[in-house]
This record gives sequence, C-alpha cells and structure tokens, in this order.
Amino acid sequence: MNNILEAVEILRKGGLVAIPTETVYGLGADASNNEALKKIFAAKNRPMDHPLIVHIGDVSQLKEWAQDISPQVLELAKCFWPGPLTLILKKASQVSDLVTGGQNTVGLRMPNHPVALELLRTFKGGIAAPSANKFGRISPTSAEAVREELGTAVDMILDGGACDVGVESTILDMSGNQPVILRPGMITKKQIEDIVKIPVLEKQKISPRVSGSFESHYAPQTKTLLLDKPAIEKYLAEEVKPVAVLALSQFSVKDNVILCRMPEDAKTYAHDLYQKLRELDKKALYAIIIEEVPSTEEWAGISDRLIKASGRGYK
Ligand code: TXA
Ligand code: MG
Repeated sequence: MNNILEAVEILRKGGLVAIPTETVYGLGADASNNEALKKIFAAKNRPMDHPLIVHIGDVSQLKEWAQDISPQVLELAKCFWPGPLTLILKKASQVSDLVTGGQNTVGLRMPNHPVALELLRTFKGGIAAPSANKFGRISPTSAEAVREELGTAVDMILDGGACDVGVESTILDMSGNQPVILRPGMITKKQIEDIVKIPVLEKQKISPRVSGSFESHYAPQTKTLLLDKPAIEKYLAEEVKPVAVLALSQFSVKDNVILCRMPEDAKTYAHDLYQKLRELDKKALYAIIIEEVPSTEEWAGISDRLIKASGRGYK
C-alpha cells in the first residue's frame, strides 16, 4: 500500500498523521471525528479550548464547514489557495466544538503541498491540523523535527521534505464586518487588501482566541533575546558564556559566539528560521540573540514570531 492510502486508513480509523504543508508540518486528524480530535490535544498538551484549522483539498468543500460565504471569501480562496492563508468564517452547524474551541467560527485552509493535497483529495473529508509541535514550542519544518517533537504520539509521519514557506499561515478573520489579520504571515496585508478592496485591520489582541497570541509561543527552550544591532554589540562585549547570534548585519565576535548570518530577504529568512532555532536550541547555549528584522510588511510574520520566541510578546 502506498503511504497516502496508509495515511487515509489511519485517519479513517481515528488516528493521527503528521502532514507536510508549505508552511509547517501539521498534526492531522479527521475533523469530523471527536475521538480523533481529542488525540490531537493530548499529543500536543494543548488546552482544549484552542481552535484548530480544518484543511481541505478543494474550494467546493468550503460549504461543508462554513456558512455565509461571501464573494470576497471566494475571491480570496481563488487567489491564495492552495497557499498559506487561513480564513476564519462563520461555522456550519455540524462543526465540532473541539474544532472551533466552542466559538461560532471555523478556520479553513487549503495547503500548497503536493503530499498534503494528495492526502486531502484521497481522504475527501476535512483534516484538522495544528502545527505538529508540543504546545508553545517551535513548529516543525521537517519530518525529523516532527519526530523530535511528537515521537510515538503520532501514528504516521508523511515525509514531504523541508517546508517551503517555513512560518505558519496568515490568519484572516472574515467572519465580521471588516477583515482582520489575527496572525500575520507571509501573505501580507497589502496582498489581501488588493483582493478584498477594503481596509484590513491588524489586531492580535482580540477574541476569538488565537493560541499564537500567548506570551511565550513558538519559543526555543534556550533563553532568546530580540535586540537591535547596538544592543547586540553591547551584549556581546560583556558576555563570556556561549551564545549564538542570528544576524542580518555584520558583527565581529569572540570565540564564545556562534554567528549565524541570516538571509537578507524575508522569504528565505522565513524558510530557514525555525530549522535554525531548533538546531541552536540543541547546543546548550546560554542564550540565542536575534537581531531585529525590518519593520516592513513583508517581515511582519517573521517579526511576530521573533517577538513571541523572545517572550517579549503581547498577551
Ligand atoms: O500554517 C499553518 O496555519 C499551520 C499548518 C499546519 O496549516 N497550522 C497552524 O495551526 O499553525 P496552529 O493550531 O498551530 O495555529 C492555528 C491558529 C491557532 O492559534 C488557533 O487559535 C487559530 O489558528 N484558530 C483556529 N481556528 C480559529 C478560529 N475559529 N478563530 C480564531 N482563531 C482560530
Ligand atoms: Mg502552532
């Protein structure tokens, strides 16, 4: 039996399958099976009231999960799916509270990865999948990283190689009067505004709950600091313990410092970030120092994750 058929069988029996997507790996379960959904929360140590994204393989499935689907929503789906955009919509009546966290909305996304799409299209139903990491930790961007995070808690890991995008999808709430970005990502506000033709708000502090808005999220175990260049220079001048620096600019460093020059373009930076943090987190360093990234829109998703990784985040 090929991997996809095996994965479908596991999902139909209520098991968990780790799925490669273009953003990060997801921990997938049949979104219409409550017993399977409960296993997701147990495997991740995730609080039960945190809603899950339902992944679908075709736009025509939208109406199975959501209602009041506006022309704008269809336009967004047409432009960005498959791709790293999650749409929050008014839920269809039968969607489980385990998926929605008891809210009247549901998050939906069609991922742009050939393995995920083949799985979804063979399975035919929706697959609920949070990122395949323990709650609060860095999302995995490779099959190996999923193994490290979840080990035997998952019945199967589909290996789809390293994730292209590397940070989680942009979450856009389309359930109210005005579109609101709940979690920035590599699809920017401007790209969305170009499609919906009305202003898009950015609001990370509001309900409905987004688990990514907890203070220390997407975080390495190692103490992580987010500093500007002068602050890093000052820090390095005084620090003698082993530390790493994720740098965009040039630094001259002493022997106690691992200097990682990061890519200067946002797309490649995002692709490399979690893998790099995971690698450094294993080195028993005293601290990981990250140089602040530009405050332009294309860096918004990255900046958001760095703020959270450094525990400097908002509640
Ligand atoms: O790129 C991604 O979005 C990845 C891949 C696997 O698709 N998934 C992901 O899932 O990042 P997760 O669960 O780690 O983050 C999804 C976020 C959570 O913070 C959750 O609270 C929010 O989406 N969310 C899901 N449904 C929601 C809803 N109905 N209202 C508000 N937020 C919702
Ligand atoms: Mg997550």
